[in-house]
Amino acid sequence: MQVQFTVNGKPASIDVAPNTLLVQAIREQLRLTGTHVGCDTAQCGACTVLVDGRAIKSCNTLAVQHQGAAITTIEGLAAADGAMHPMQAAFKECHGLQCGFCTPGMVLSAIDLCRDHPQADDAKIRELLEGNICRCTGYQNIVKAVQQGRQAMAAA
Ligand code: FES
Ligand code: FES
Repeated sequence: MQVQFTVNGKPASIDVAPNTLLVQAIREQLRLTGTHVGCDTAQCGACTVLVDGRAIKSCNTLAVQHQGAAITTIEGLAAADGAMHPMQAAFKECHGLQCGFCTPGMVLSAIDLCRDHPQADDAKIRELLEGNICRCTGYQNIVKAVQQGRQAMAAA
C-alpha cells in the first residue's frame, strides 16, 4: 500500500505492507534511525515520535493508519541552521542523558507534555513521563532538563 506522510517537514511517499509498523517505516524505509526500538511492546517509549504534534509510540501503530499525517522524529527538531530545539539543548545542558538510547523519545515526549502541562512540577513531570523508560536511571537530570526546556520553549 502507498502511504504518504509529511516527515520532518518534507513529503514522503512509501510502499508498505498493511502490517508494517510505523517505527519500521520510519527506521527501515525512511532511514531515520534516531527513532529507537527498545521493547517493541509499547512500554519503553524509545520509539516515540510526534504525529500531528502529539507524542505516540510508533511501535504500537501501523504505518497505514497515519496516511497524510505530519510526523516529526528527533532528526526533524533542529532548526534549518542546525541550532538545537530548546528541549534538545536543555537535555544537553542538564546532562539529561547517559547512553542516549531513550533520549529521542524522552525529548519528543517532553515537548508534547510541556504543551499540555505548562505548570507541571517535578512530580507531575515524572508521572507524565512514566511511558518513557531510561535504563540508565537518569531521571533526576531528565526532569531538570524538561523544566529548563519548557522555560526555553515558552520564551522562544
Ligand atoms: Fe516502542 Fe518500546 S519500542 S515503546
Ligand atoms: Fe541510557 Fe536513558 S540515557 S537509557
